Amino acid sequence: MRIALVTQKGGAGKTTLATNLAVALAQDGGKVLLIDADRQRTALDWFAVRSEGTYNGEVTVVAIDNDTIHKQIPSLAAGYKHVVIDGPPRAEKVDRSAIMAADCILIPVQPSSADVWAAETTIKLVEEARGFRPKLAASVVVNRKIPNTVLGNAVLDLMREFPVKTLKTTVGQRVIFAESLGRGGSVIEDAPAGTAADEIRDVLKELQGLTR
Ligand SMILES: Nc1ncnc2c1ncn2[C@@H]1O[C@H](COP(=O)(O)OP(=O)(O)O)[C@@H](O)[C@H]1O
Ligand SMILES: [Mg+2]
Repeated sequence: MRIALVTQKGGAGKTTLATNLAVALAQDGGKVLLIDADRQRTALDWFAVRSEGTYNGEVTVVAIDNDTIHKQIPSLAAGYKHVVIDGPPRAEKVDRSAIMAADCILIPVQPSSADVWAAETTIKLVEEARGFRPKLAASVVVNRKIPNTVLGNAVLDLMREFPVKTLKTTVGQRVIFAESLGRGGSVIEDAPAGTAADEIRDVLKELQGLTR
């Protein structure tokens, strides 16, 4: 599976979901390549911290922060069962390259109208890619949902109009996500029985359903 986490908006949760999904895929079996396409290199930093700790799990991180991801992927991904691409903010060319390299696009949005509007640019890129790859799987996922609240109608209405469906699973605003990232871990490793880990496993299951 080749998942690209893309959206122009910084802070939406691309890196958080990319690192957690990479570990979830590795636990599912097989080597995983995580491509850090953001100049800030948070995924690489995560991996540096991770390498000093006691985590195992077959995840490797490389950085490609330009629009050659789709060109490099055939050789880079050789030997890996899965690839996860952690996209940059505000870099349309890189996003386009990441989308071309992937078979499943995941667009994280925070549950506010402003964030949902910001996802529209990315959704246009997905539509463009679907022009020549009609079966390209793509989905929006709500991240940082305040637990025990419902999504506002304004947000739900906007998402319903998207040509890209929203996953049933939502990811909650949970301290463990931020803590795990800083520790080089994943919620699945740090709190396997917790709600956050369930959310990540459920997101992955839904994505696997989309690409089947
Ligand atoms: N579900 C969540 N719960 C709590 N904190 C989160 C969650 N998702 C992201 N964050 C935090 O928000 C910040 C931005 O998230 P990040 O994944 O880096 O976004 P992006 O890569 O899209 O810029 C980080 O500090 C991260 O720890
Ligand atoms: Mg990021």
